[in-house]
Amino acid sequence: MGRNISLHVKSVAAASLLTILLIILYVYNDSVGVQVWSYAGAGGTEAHQDQGHTTDDIPNIVHFVYILANESKGFNFEFSHFLSMYAVSLYWEPDTIFLHTNVDPDGTAVARARDGFGGKWNKLIFTYFNLDIRKVEVPSYANNGVKIQGLEHKSDFVRVKAVQEHGGIYIDWDVHALRDVKSLRQSGFNAVAGRQAHGQINSGTFMSKKGAKMIDMWTDGMHEAYNGGWTTHSNEVITRVGELLVQEPGEMLILERDAFAPGSWESKDTDNLFQSHAEPAGFTEHELAAMRSLRLAESETPGDVPEWAWNWSHTYLLHAFSPDRWHQKVHGYDHISPAYVLRRDSNFGRAVYPAVLHMYREGLIGVNDPYDG
Ligand SMILES: *[C@@H]1O[C@H](CO)[C@@H](O)[C@H](O)[C@H]1NC(C)=O
Ligand SMILES: *[C@@H]1O[C@H](CO)[C@@H](O)[C@H](O)[C@H]1NC(C)=O
Repeated sequence: MGRNISLHVKSVAAASLLTILLIILYVYNDSVGVQVWSYAGAGGTEAHQDQGHTTDDIPNIVHFVYILANESKGFNFEFSHFLSMYAVSLYWEPDTIFLHTNVDPDGTAVARARDGFGGKWNKLIFTYFNLDIRKVEVPSYANNGVKIQGLEHKSDFVRVKAVQEHGGIYIDWDVHALRDVKSLRQSGFNAVAGRQAHGQINSGTFMSKKGAKMIDMWTDGMHEAYNGGWTTHSNEVITRVGELLVQEPGEMLILERDAFAPGSWESKDTDNLFQSHAEPAGFTEHELAAMRSLRLAESETPGDVPEWAWNWSHTYLLHAFSPDRWHQKVHGYDHISPAYVLRRDSNFGRAVYPAVLHMYREGLIGVNDPYDG
């Protein structure tokens, strides 16, 4: 009996508490409602912009640049080029992939590559992705009158202009996406880039909104700075402009080195990235079956990690500076081929393995495919 009375008292108390809470909630809600209304009345556009944040991202547009030295020699894409584009397409699902080049999209060079005359990788690049091929004007002189040397420097001017015109993400062919960059595009910053060895900002990959101060100032600054020096107009100008713009809220985000360029062009770094830690061997039937089987995870468990392995968990994009440019011999490495990656006995192989395994499972590649042709 006593128990029942106390229960009754408790439920009355609970009901009153609920009523009070509801009243508080109602009053609070009403005052918030008034606030929202008066705010929208006073500054409707600002409120709208705050809500419409996602329309203000760095666009999910990717830019590649390939300038042919001699149009009649055609494109010369290798497996590593296809891999770079494939990983971007896999992890980012871009709205558009631009290929900026100096040949006509409807001309012979593109047609021959597409029709397979240039081998498997040229054909795949022009048929697997829905590329937006743009013929661009390749500058011969910077605006300061200095003649632009070499295809690399011409490509530097083309890439910056492309991102200035469209917004989006530029990547070099030796840059490999290891994960999505959506969170960077949506960070609210107008431009994002990353440092490289010795502290400069790397110009092999960067992203920007159209009309961002960084890309506009770099476009002008590179023409003024050009003097034929290897990186005067590229890394030096984006570093100067980028560091200047950090003090303006939202203009520039500079990421640490490991984000985009964990290695470097120095031989100790290219050795560490590319050297093979096992004797070259073919794949056994058992290994091939394991790769085809969906039971094999695309990423690895910590128990499988050899002691020489780099940890890629904090890298978005791997700028894999190649030892080929300096004709430097690296143990167990000749070229980036499907088998070299699938063996996973190098840091490079371990980094890009998930994308290459994906291609293998899609039936796009065989383990004995050559690196070129
Ligand atoms: C371009 O390549 C073609 C075919 O290999 C060659 O005949 C021609 O001389 C080359 N042109 C130049 C300007 O090097
Ligand atoms: C790699 O680094 C991340 C972050 O520090 C850590 O969580 C992860 O366990 C590391 N992986 C291995 C295999 O050591």
